[in-house]
Amino acid sequence: MTAAPRVAIVGTGRMGAAMAARLCSQGAHVVVHNRTSARAQTVAEETGARMVGSAREAATQAEVVLVSLADDAACEEAYAGPDGIIAGLSAGSVVADTSTVSPRTSRRLADLVGHAGAGMLDAPVSGSVPIVDRGELTVMVGGAADDLERARPVLELLAARIVHLGGPGTGATMKLAVNSVVHALSQALSEALVLAERAGVDRATAYGVFMESVVGAPFVRYKRAAFEKPDETPVAFSLDLVLKDLDLVLDLAAEVGLPMPQAAANRAAAAAAIEAGLGERDMSAIATMLRAGSEVEAPPR
Ligand SMILES: NC(=O)c1ccc[n+]([C@@H]2O[C@H](COP(=O)([O-])OP(=O)(O)OC[C@H]3O[C@@H](n4cnc5c(N)ncnc54)[C@H](OP(=O)(O)O)[C@@H]3O)[C@@H](O)[C@H]2O)c1
Repeated sequence: MTAAPRVAIVGTGRMGAAMAARLCSQGAHVVVHNRTSARAQTVAEETGARMVGSAREAATQAEVVLVSLADDAACEEAYAGPDGIIAGLSAGSVVADTSTVSPRTSRRLADLVGHAGAGMLDAPVSGSVPIVDRGELTVMVGGAADDLERARPVLELLAARIVHLGGPGTGATMKLAVNSVVHALSQALSEALVLAERAGVDRATAYGVFMESVVGAPFVRYKRAAFEKPDETPVAFSLDLVLKDLDLVLDLAAEVGLPMPQAAANRAAAAAAIEAGLGERDMSAIATMLRAGSEVEAPPR
């Protein structure tokens, strides 16, 4: 790979936009494509990336194609068809899909990309927008070791840790395991913060103690603004995506025959918040809902 890697980003939502900014700041040549072109246009204007009109065109121009899309359906749509990612791949290029999707979808996409002669990694990430900005993501990789080596120079611009788990789908599997903990932590933090507030402790003081106590995980630290000042803090991870993640976790749990009662309870809380109209709000809006005292019945799964 040349000193300045040629990278395509398909999907300029919150994470894809942050990745474009980070990669451009590190000197990569970046082309971006997004279903809603206005969003890609804004990213191009703000970062110096170049916007192109289709996922195929983006893939044609890159050595490494990073994908950051909402869910399994979005990926299925973006890879397929005459203007899809697969149509633009060449032998030697490698796709690193950072979306959180099911391991089954990851394996199917790996087959399709492999038939096109290119390499495919499921490469979901742990860490949100501020972590991308600092290039400190953790990437969980499934796929062939030589494909990872080709993508590594680009992934290293975004990540502090890259862990190769095994073959196709293993990165996606690990990501679901990690996110079952993230969403449990987020739900527990929401409940505990509002508990402390209701019982008379100031919000900022209580959050500061969480950060300094044994529960002060990186997640608790970087979500401080979102939990303390929810109205002034941009959305980093929507409740719609929390529900998507927990459905994927519970589907995988059912597949392997594992009861996950805590994940099921967290899923019900996210579903109730979405039912109350909070789907596009940040995951920390669960605390806002508890604070307001709203009790909404979760729709059945
Ligand atoms: N946000 C985080 O903190 C975080 C952290 C780790 C992993 N992730 C994962 O990273 C992925 C992206 O997350 P995000 O927060 O950036 O999401 P987001 O801001 O909601 O962006 C979603 C992206 O998916 C695209 N999309 C949705 N449906 C599509 C379809 N049918 N066809 C083509 N494109 C479609 C959207 O395009 P439009 O603009 O056209 O709607 C947008 O580019 C998700 O899988 C998420 O679980 C997120």
